[in-house]
Amino acid sequence: KKIVLAYSGGLDTSVILPWLKDRYPGVKLVAFAAELGQGDELSGIEKKAYASGADEVVVADLRQEFAEQYCFPMIRAHAVYETDYLLGTSIARPLIAKAQVEAAHKTGADAVGHGATGKGNDQVRFELTYKALDPKLKIVSPWKDHKFLDDGLTDRETAIEYAQKHNIPIDQSTKKIYSRDRNLWHISHEGAEIEDPANEPNWENCLVMSVPVEQAPDKAEVVEVGFEHGNPVSVNGKKLPGHELIATLNEVGGQHAVGTTVLTENRLVGMKSRGVYETPGGTILYEAHKALEQLCMERDLYHYKLQLAHKYAEIVYNGQWFHPLREAMQAFIDQSNRVVSGNVKVKLYKGRALAIAATSDTSLYDLDLASFAMKDYDVTAARGFIDLFGLPMQVRGLKQGNPDTA
Ligand code: ARG
Ligand code: SIN
Repeated sequence: KKIVLAYSGGLDTSVILPWLKDRYPGVKLVAFAAELGQGDELSGIEKKAYASGADEVVVADLRQEFAEQYCFPMIRAHAVYETDYLLGTSIARPLIAKAQVEAAHKTGADAVGHGATGKGNDQVRFELTYKALDPKLKIVSPWKDHKFLDDGLTDRETAIEYAQKHNIPIDQSTKKIYSRDRNLWHISHEGAEIEDPANEPNWENCLVMSVPVEQAPDKAEVVEVGFEHGNPVSVNGKKLPGHELIATLNEVGGQHAVGTTVLTENRLVGMKSRGVYETPGGTILYEAHKALEQLCMERDLYHYKLQLAHKYAEIVYNGQWFHPLREAMQAFIDQSNRVVSGNVKVKLYKGRALAIAATSDTSLYDLDLASFAMKDYDVTAARGFIDLFGLPMQVRGLKQGNPDTA
């Protein structure tokens, strides 16, 4: 029996290593850590994993793949969950789980597992991906294991006690702390005072990637983002690989307090939960991408794509990245984004990112058509168009009247 465990070094995943060793004697544990641009969280992770009981440790640098194969397709889709969440945690889980499955194959493991709780979205995202990519692997999820609960491991406080008793190195103390998830796209904060929607979040304590908006500079700053086929490729004229591009925009966006949201969201598993999200670079990219789509995309296609974005966001949130519907929608989205190339200037100022100028070789914008000059414009065509377009309303007015004016 050998399990590849998604391991972050955080509390929830740290306690399950010694617990599995204890409750399933003879089990071999591979701690799998993904480098997704979570800052310095990964320093010393190998030592920590071995100290917690791992037999093997695998660390995989997935930053570029995460940026270009996960975040970028989502930008092309322009997916936003419940109008305020740019899906930073949701989009990372399928990649971690995919890499875990690969690690299982390499290390000869017959099971994969994670430390997400039984009340959240993350468990679903991990497990749907395991099932999709290798249906034969066994799935280990201690926070849903009755033996785990029988051992008194029911919340973060008891987990801290357990870790201390087993000499597991953890940073947390028993005081109320945020549950955070960070990668190069975003950081999320849940728990502590954020859990009560009546409270304003304690920004000083909570924010990690950005400053509180009150501390943003009085001077605006403009960044220029270049796109090819819906993918961001450059910042201020400099070509960058995806992960560096996002990191660059996080830096400047965070200084201007761009991309901080507070959201009471609907979890897939039913309950509402409240969180603070920081997505500075992503917010700049969405704003820039939107401006280019508005410039380059034909009307009916654009309107239809906007409807799909809503469904696509739901699919990503629900952990169905490797679902055939997501793949088919992606094909449509990517086709629509072939013409989304050009440059966009985005002004950053006190929490706002505003696209202020856009240029594109594939722009559909025609100044002659748009201007108010009537020269060379066939007004009889407009008259005829309105006659036919308005015919049903005219007939209804004649035959039935209008209830509001009757
Ligand atoms: N509510 C967000 C989501 O479902 C963030 C989850 C954060 N996960 C965590 N393990 N702290 O995507
Ligand atoms: C968890 O419950 O493990 C984190 C929150 C979530 O998955 O939604």
